[in-house]
Amino acid sequence: MTSNELRKKYLEFFKTKGHTVIPSASLVPENDPTVLFTTAGMHPLVPFLLGEKHPGGNKVTSCQKCIRTGDIDEVGDATHLTFFEMLGNWSFGDYFKDRAIEMSLEFLTSKEWLGLDKNLLAVSVFEGDNDAPFDTEAFEKWKSLGISEERIARLPKKNNWWGPAGETGPCGPDTEMFYWTGDPKDVPESFHDDHPLWVEIWNDVFMQYNKKLKTGDQKLKTDEYEFAPLAQKNVDTGMGLERVVSILNKCDVYQIDTFKPLIDEIEKLSGKKYQDYTKEFRIIADHIKASTFMIADGVMPSNTGQGYVLRRLIRRAVRYGKLIEMTEKFVAEISVKVIDTSGDAYSELKKNKNIILEEIGKEEEKFTAALDKGLKEFSKLTHIDGVIAFDLYQSYGFPIELTEELSQERGFIIDIHEFQEEFKKHQELSRASSAGVFKGGLADHSEISTKYHTATHLLLAALREILSPDIYQKGSNITAERMRFDFNYPQKLTTEQITQIEDLVNKKIQEDIPVEIITMPKTEALQFVKVSFDQSKYGDMVKVYKIGDFSIELCGGPHVEHTNQIGTFHIVKEEAVSAGIRRIRATVV
Ligand code: ALA
Repeated sequence: MTSNELRKKYLEFFKTKGHTVIPSASLVPENDPTVLFTTAGMHPLVPFLLGEKHPGGNKVTSCQKCIRTGDIDEVGDATHLTFFEMLGNWSFGDYFKDRAIEMSLEFLTSKEWLGLDKNLLAVSVFEGDNDAPFDTEAFEKWKSLGISEERIARLPKKNNWWGPAGETGPCGPDTEMFYWTGDPKDVPESFHDDHPLWVEIWNDVFMQYNKKLKTGDQKLKTDEYEFAPLAQKNVDTGMGLERVVSILNKCDVYQIDTFKPLIDEIEKLSGKKYQDYTKEFRIIADHIKASTFMIADGVMPSNTGQGYVLRRLIRRAVRYGKLIEMTEKFVAEISVKVIDTSGDAYSELKKNKNIILEEIGKEEEKFTAALDKGLKEFSKLTHIDGVIAFDLYQSYGFPIELTEELSQERGFIIDIHEFQEEFKKHQELSRASSAGVFKGGLADHSEISTKYHTATHLLLAALREILSPDIYQKGSNITAERMRFDFNYPQKLTTEQITQIEDLVNKKIQEDIPVEIITMPKTEALQFVKVSFDQSKYGDMVKVYKIGDFSIELCGGPHVEHTNQIGTFHIVKEEAVSAGIRRIRATVV
């Protein structure tokens, strides 16, 4: 079975079960700085898991492009991929555990669908702890469907809990499905999740909780969280497409249809064999595939945020190319294979082919020039410290993680905090690019993002007051470091206008106005709220955020409780984006 066939089957199955098929969202999350990339199918669906109405109804299914950089150290083994496709089905307050489990089992085992052997299946359920009880419902359901008790593992939160995608948000216990990938004759009676031949194939998450900062103390920079029950009980499932294709074809994941042409190309270009240099081949294929998809979604190599991850992936691929003695440029040629194999399912690859190949090629060239010299320098070292690491970065473009990896290979003792301190001192890297975020998010990001969300509303209101009542939001993007806001206006703003806007926003911040949330029918809200977006984007019931008489907007939130929590607002830059559209970059401190 090919990737295209499995993708089609999955979506078709859930369509027959009343789900609406929705397209994959971008790899770069919109307005969510708590994670750099879309990490799961549920990520773009968070507002709907929290109760907003989805235009496709309360049952949807998709195949979502995902990037997980947390697993980067495991890339090179047989199953972990940086970029992967995740199949999923969702219930927004519609079906719950029973129905989700029934459908999963039917899709896996029915001859009409995947036809997997039920005797080779095992599952795990949440064993319970202080936050939530043992998942009896899931346990009993599997038993009633004929899975023996020995094949149902009860596991702790570490294994059987999913979410939130960022620091806070919807989450809950899950039940995971495993398939025996060894000889069917050898399948053990009982299931142990640490046995390498039992491979996880699907995860059904029962999102019944909202992980949030304990209420009443919003200012705290703390990791004091609580698990509040969600009003709406949801199902969120995830099946790794590449992994399941490899299981169905009884082959290694790098031999499936979307990877084989890449591996073949590396063999051709290097004259080496995949069997002899498996790890190197896998890293090169994985990283170039991920990079190709990232650029197609608008990420460009840089020293911060997503761009830094991209840069690191390309550079690591180049380095592993060197290790298998590829002397010519090779990255773009492998990237072409990614576009060829996945371009039908993801048209953005074809559409952006030129820019992808150009950017990838440029980055390879830049790094190749410095790499040999840098490696030579590195081989002369007798120890490593933060200053040397920074020097390698500045002189030879070595990402901090490359130096870390090389140091480990050489057996040097490294202190990653010391590295980071040195990098910070030079302010060369943004916080988003430090190893912390790479591994999965800074604790206080969500708090910063909340401030920026509210500052965005104040800015829009200020623009309407100072420039024209007919200003609308044309785009917005928030990171942990800044906000970016696009709006319609025919000419460049004067310095005076910029100061007036800044002053007005700061005045409203100082007035410490409470931010009120009102939920009401959309038809009612539209009578007094000016909306910047297509109205059909909103459901029948909408959330209205009101900041005194100054600002009133439809929005999913979250926002600060009162405006002086924002800090001081500062416009950093005002520029043109396209004809009639201006962009403001601003910070809050
Ligand atoms: N969100 C769940 C996962 O990624 C389904 O495993």
